[in-house]
Parts: sequence; C-alpha cells; structure tokens
Amino acid sequence: MLRWTRTVGITIVVVLVAIVGLYFTLAKAAAPAAGQAFKAEGGLVEFTPGGKLKQPVGYREWVFIGTPLTPNELNDGHATFPEFHNVYIDPGSFAYWRKTGKFRDGTVIIKDLVGVGYKKAPSGNGYFEGDYTGMEAAIKDSKRFKDEPGNWAYFDFGSKQPLKEDAAKKPTAACNACHQ
Ligand code: HEC
Repeated sequence: MLRWTRTVGITIVVVLVAIVGLYFTLAKAAAPAAGQAFKAEGGLVEFTPGGKLKQPVGYREWVFIGTPLTPNELNDGHATFPEFHNVYIDPGSFAYWRKTGKFRDGTVIIKDLVGVGYKKAPSGNGYFEGDYTGMEAAIKDSKRFKDEPGNWAYFDFGSKQPLKEDAAKKPTAACNACHQ
C-alpha cells in the first residue's frame, strides 16, 4: 500500500513538471523575438498608406551601435548637432551584416539625439546624457527607394519633443548627398 502511494505520488510530480515545462516552451514559442515587437509588411517599421514612415517604436532594444558626440566646446561653441547620437540597428540586419559585411534590404538604422545633461559626476567631469530631443532614421529598401543612392532613404522626426507621428522621406540632397 505504501509503495503504491509513493509510485502514484512520484507520477503526479513528474506529470506536473512536464505540464509546467510544456507551458513555458509554448509561451516562449508564441512570444515575438527580441526587437520584433512590431511588424508591418514583413519589416520592422510601418509606413502610412501615403508612404510616410510611422514613428518607429521598440528600437532601443535593438543592437546598439554607438554614440558619437560633437559638443559645442569642441566646435567653437556652435556644433551643428551638440547632442549625443545613439545609433541602433535592427537585430536581423545586424546579424546579416556581421556575416556578409553588407546591409540587406529592409535594414533599419535609427539615431536618437540626446542632449548633454550635466557635466560633472562623482566619477569626474565629462558629458552625461540628458533628455531625448530628436530622432532620425535610415532605411534600405531596393523596391520602395529604388531611385535613392544605395537604396537608402532618410527620415527626420524632428529635433524637439513631442516628435512627429510620421515623417516623409527627405529629399536626396538633404541627407543622402552627404551619406552616400
Ligand atoms: C553634413 C553631412 C550630413 C548630412 C547633410 C546628414 N548627415 Fe546623417 N550623418 C552624418 C555623419 C558624419 C554621421 C555619423 C556620425 C554622427 O552620427 O554624427 C551621420 C549619421 C546619421 C545616422 C546614424 C546612422 C549612420 O548612417 O551613421 C542617421 C540615421 C542619419 N545620420 C540621418 C540623417 C538624416 C535623416 C539627414 C537629413 C535630414 C542627415 N542624416 C543628413 C552626416 C550627415
């Protein structure tokens, strides 16, 4: 009798563990991959019916590329962009770039502009990130932007909050002339 009870007990525990394990496996499979929380047209960003780029979301969880800073102090007091430039790329395109050295169709690169906050901290004097001010995006798409140099189009969501809800592609001369 004792043996039978123990066998039943062990069986119940094993079944429970299996159910919990299955639950987490299924939950993981159903969850979107990191950085892919939003999707449209098979891509990571969404366009309006009129072809404007909707303000991207979720990109701060993509692959972080780096942060150049061109402070006023090093530019005669008048830097064109005195802010930090935090740059992100979508994870799938980063993986592709790392493998091939090329930017694939659908690559999205986003640049957050972040003002200089304070310049002193217990760690020393320097430049510390302040508030988010602006945001720009570059997207490579050989169908949508077939006439742009390198098929890259550039979008500017403004340089003060609140940012624009959507942005039209900038003229080639405004951004791509420099970027190409
Ligand atoms: C005077 C040349 C110049 C012009 C004009 C220019 N850019 Fe850039 N851009 C740069 C340089 C240099 C960098 C890399 C260093 C940095 O971020 O400051 C850069 C970086 C970027 C990045 C980060 C990804 C990358 O390619 O490095 C984005 C996004 C971007 N620019 C968008 C734009 C948009 C949108 C416009 C037009 C409104 C624009 N740029 C106009 C020179 C330029």
